[in-house]
Amino acid sequence: MHMPIPKAELHVHIEGTLEPELAFDLARRNGITLPYSEVEELRAAYSFSDLQSFLNLYYELMDVLRTEEDFRDLTLAYLARAASQGVRHAEIFFDPQAHTSRGVPFEVVLEGITSALKTSEDEYGVSTALILCFLRDRPASEAMETLVAARPHLEHLSAVGLDSAEVGHPPSKFTEVFDAAAQLGLRRVAHAGEEGPPEYIREALDLLGAERIDHGIRCLDDPDLVTRLAESRTPLTVCPFSNVRLRAVDTLDVHPLPALMEAGLLVTINSDDPSYFGGHVHDNFLGVQEHLGLSNEDLRSLARNSFTASFLSEERRSALI
Ligand code: ADE
Ligand code: ZN
Repeated sequence: MHMPIPKAELHVHIEGTLEPELAFDLARRNGITLPYSEVEELRAAYSFSDLQSFLNLYYELMDVLRTEEDFRDLTLAYLARAASQGVRHAEIFFDPQAHTSRGVPFEVVLEGITSALKTSEDEYGVSTALILCFLRDRPASEAMETLVAARPHLEHLSAVGLDSAEVGHPPSKFTEVFDAAAQLGLRRVAHAGEEGPPEYIREALDLLGAERIDHGIRCLDDPDLVTRLAESRTPLTVCPFSNVRLRAVDTLDVHPLPALMEAGLLVTINSDDPSYFGGHVHDNFLGVQEHLGLSNEDLRSLARNSFTASFLSEERRSALI
């Protein structure tokens, strides 16, 4: 097999990298009984009708993550897999509220993840950044409490993001906490236009100061917004397998990636939640190549975009491109 093209991954939820096998191992280690008797039965549940139907399972399965060691093992497994997919730099989301809300302390989550990340460049040749996501379907006050909990640990965090159930939870709900994050020197990104309307993308830009839009595919419903995103070179972190599995797009053959590229947008390809959506980031590259007829030059351009759209320093970026 060819060496996968070197790339950055900018849209991956660490909790979405939990493979069924590891879920069962962690359940056993923590004395938890999962409502599935075996790996195959769990895998069979990976059939989704929309974002919410996925999130229900995603949050349910997280219950196996309890200790620092669990978060470290999860993160190490992702890094090893990412390296084999050609990833040289990963900007990784985590969802602290999904853990603190079930009694796992913020520090346990952060320490577990960062203890793995600090070995990443030496062990796997993957530089990393960590992005703290707020859950948009929970109150804005809770997001602010999460930012306060993060404040003593800013050296481990590059940015804040916004994820979970989109429709009915517009970015405007989080203006205050994103302002506070900016004041702390954090960069800002947000999921927008995955299932929600283009207006949510505009809000993410105008009210949250988002520098990148996660997903963003529904910008195509608003030509003026497409022009704005293209002219401002605002990156979109597109996740093709995710869009198909969550039925934002009917099939890979009709994915709007080519339209986004033709519109001159700074598009990147990412895995989102690879263990749930049938592939890691390079698998997504191969999938879009096969189903959308992209050339090798198109793939090289998408890989280049991933470094351009990253938060890497100029120095490491030029070393990697
Ligand atoms: N959390 C994990 N994956 C997500 C996605 N695709 N959209 C919103 N929230 C998420
Ligand atoms: Zn996502």
